[in-house]
Amino acid sequence: MDRFVIMGGKKLEGEVTISGAKNAAVAIIPAALLVEGTCTIENIPAINDVDVICNILGELGAKIQFKDERHTLVIDCSALHSYTASFESVQRMRASYYLIGALLGRFNHAVVAMPGGCNFGVRPIDQHIKAFEALGATVDTTSGIINASAEKLIAAHIFLDVVSVGATINAVLAAVRAEGVTVIENAAKEPHVVDFANFLNAMGARIKGAGTDTIKVTGVEKLSGGTYSIIPDQIEAGTFMIAAAATGGNVLVKNVIPKHMESLSSKLEEMGADVQEFDDSILVSRTKPLKKANVKTLPYPGFPTDLQPQIVALLAVAEGNSIVTESVWDNRFQYVEELRRLGAIINVDGRVAMVEGVEKLTGATVKATDLRAGASMVIAALVANGVTEVYNLKYIDRGYEDFEHKLQALGAQIVRKKNDGTSSEQELAL
Ligand code: EPU
Repeated sequence: MDRFVIMGGKKLEGEVTISGAKNAAVAIIPAALLVEGTCTIENIPAINDVDVICNILGELGAKIQFKDERHTLVIDCSALHSYTASFESVQRMRASYYLIGALLGRFNHAVVAMPGGCNFGVRPIDQHIKAFEALGATVDTTSGIINASAEKLIAAHIFLDVVSVGATINAVLAAVRAEGVTVIENAAKEPHVVDFANFLNAMGARIKGAGTDTIKVTGVEKLSGGTYSIIPDQIEAGTFMIAAAATGGNVLVKNVIPKHMESLSSKLEEMGADVQEFDDSILVSRTKPLKKANVKTLPYPGFPTDLQPQIVALLAVAEGNSIVTESVWDNRFQYVEELRRLGAIINVDGRVAMVEGVEKLTGATVKATDLRAGASMVIAALVANGVTEVYNLKYIDRGYEDFEHKLQALGAQIVRKKNDGTSSEQELAL
């Protein structure tokens, strides 16, 4: 199994450029299924999740071409031949549920295996199904297959019972070509929801209100293609900002939208870091000791759940006791056990973690229990005394482009060791 070997203690210094947003890309690529023409999508992150979703589109008959070192994607969905996505394809990626809304919108019929579970609790799709049914579809979920079909999709007024990124995006996907004006209330406001809507509008859709809690979609007959560039990844940017603060470094995080980072920037300042915002970059540095802080995850514009494991790694080495409340997912503290191996003192009670800051963490062998948990391990390893090995890199590779190289360029001592005992990099001077 590949692993990172990290020698802690180096301050991160320099500049890092953030890639395109994973959670925008994994929604925008399936949205191309609605387009009978060519979509050129720029600023695509070179990550495994993008490869997985592109393979599925290819199986459905899309013509896919990568350019610009895999950062531009040209998708032509004018000749699709299937509305069925097999279990083998979808099990590799949770966000494959977007295929349901997209295929339903394109063919009035979608057959998609139920996306797998994940490592931080039950991930129901009842709100997605509620939206499809409101638009006139019949949805059958027997035998782990979602079979959604409609003679015709007709606009509806949809009130989501929970704020859900996935259900909001799926409702829009199914409504884009439905007859009439669909109103989605209690919609998610995340930056990638807005980006996804902007992409569809660039292809000819009529979506208004994305970024607020009411989205209006006026159905159009056809989407016919165009060019679009994906926004920078809020969570990748946040991960580097936290890593900079953790190591007491000085890092200019480039290609970000500072507005998307506000909940984190203010939290880092509260903890004693300096955060300076520029037009499309943020400078994070720290010379003072880290102070405790309480954090509660919330839908956007609140503190993102996808930065919760990373900020816990930071709080683990801050002075004092911090309380972290996870209010989006039921079970997103499983990685805490791994941080404890490094010497962190954290107690979890349900959705609340009590973090007792320690002066130093000590290197150990740990594993990523999911994507963001993996980033948390790496941050903790960067500040720990000695050597840490991080296993289960498949999670990190799903969502962070070139993670170890970006960190190396900032001075981190991190290498990837291959399963066969070889190293892709020069050895660390340990
Ligand atoms: N929920 C329901 N019913 C539904 C849908 C969601 O009860 O039908 C609940 C969930 O159980 C959860 C809450 O609503 O408690 C929010 O879930 P949401 O649907 O917003 O999550 P998601 O769309 O499945 C996306 C991101 C996640 C991120 C969450 C929350 C993508 C591909 N994934 O998931 O990102 O944690 O929103 O912001 O966009 C990650 O990138 O590491 C990641 C897990």
